[in-house]
Amino acid sequence: MIIDSFIKIRGNQRKRDLMMEKTKKYVNKIKKKFSIKQMKRLFNRFKDLNVLIIGDTIIDQYVFTAIKGRAIKDPILSVEYTYHETYPGGVLAIANHISDFVKKIKLVTLVGDTRPKLNFIKKSIKKNIDLKVFTKKDAHTTVKKRYIDFYRNNKLFKVEYMNDRPITEALSSEIIQFLHKEIPKYDLVIIGDFGHGFINEDIRNKLEECSKFLALNAQSNSANMGYNYPNLYKKPDFISMSEDELRLPLSRRFEEIDKVVKEGRTTFKLNNFLVTSGKRGCVYLNKGKIFKAPILTSSVKDTVGAGDTLFAIASLCAYSKADNELIPFIGNCAGGIAANIMGNKESITKESLLAFVREVLK
Ligand SMILES: Nc1ncnc2c1ncn2[C@@H]1O[C@H](COP(=O)(O)OP(=O)(O)OP(=O)(O)O)[C@@H](O)[C@H]1O
Ligand SMILES: [Mg+2]
Repeated sequence: MIIDSFIKIRGNQRKRDLMMEKTKKYVNKIKKKFSIKQMKRLFNRFKDLNVLIIGDTIIDQYVFTAIKGRAIKDPILSVEYTYHETYPGGVLAIANHISDFVKKIKLVTLVGDTRPKLNFIKKSIKKNIDLKVFTKKDAHTTVKKRYIDFYRNNKLFKVEYMNDRPITEALSSEIIQFLHKEIPKYDLVIIGDFGHGFINEDIRNKLEECSKFLALNAQSNSANMGYNYPNLYKKPDFISMSEDELRLPLSRRFEEIDKVVKEGRTTFKLNNFLVTSGKRGCVYLNKGKIFKAPILTSSVKDTVGAGDTLFAIASLCAYSKADNELIPFIGNCAGGIAANIMGNKESITKESLLAFVREVLK
């Protein structure tokens, strides 16, 4: 038993050393090819972009608790409330991440009429975000409440408040009319589709018909279980998706990722997409060529929202036709920063991204 676990530890250590070696090689390659100045120049190119962001609003509540133990009368865990924090999530987080890179953003989203939480939304989005809100009847603005063991930083469970039934035809027409007039004004449309009852087929078609460049993240989560795959969209110019969001619609659970990425390209007729694999980094495919990047930090606080952060920054890079190697590198830098922020408590900035890049390339 002891020998067994010793071998396991030694095995893991060897694996870790190998990964470190690979990461070092990768970082050296990036260092040789790109300078910080080049990256700064790329970020400066984002400044004048006209961006419209559309998608589901999510309000993330983190309830921190102290674990007391098993309740006496029921076989349940008893915890004591310590404090809670509320963060802007979903499309609010995506808009906040982009806000420091561009002058102005139009944000289009949906709230519920019973508890719109508009004051919180307005207060938590950055000043250069111009908000256009549509309202769904008999609905709660989506709130995801996570209970956390404060000492160990482990999540205990999550409660979701939402009405993800389809919107009415009247509301859908109102949104489509608005989009028809509005979208042509923007260079880049970013969709954060969390599948919580906002973007329907008609809205999707309108977005695809009118956008000059469409960047997409269609999230799979416990609430939409298989009803919100990225291949619902027919012609996005750039997609960022998690490995599951690619594997599930293809039913390829265990196959090697390169093979699955290539299959995704042909099956879904995609030329430009990025697949994130959590602590295994990401894979970017452009016109049939694959570019892989490992994670660039070993510390992790909370990975909720890491994929959205990467998506936000990678969309700007993809629109600006950044070098194929730079897109997954900068993406993983953004993801690495986000993995060390509790939920969507803070958003990424040009300065924090450059500081992270500097640290990696040091
Ligand atoms: N454990 C980790 N350590 C370091 N970086 C990480 C870790 N997990 C995620 N990341 C970074 O964040 C990126 C996105 O992560 P992930 O694949 O988990 O996204 P996701 O599941 O879409 O997340 P979400 O939907 O909550 O935003 C990764 O490609 C990587 O750059
Ligand atoms: Mg995601």
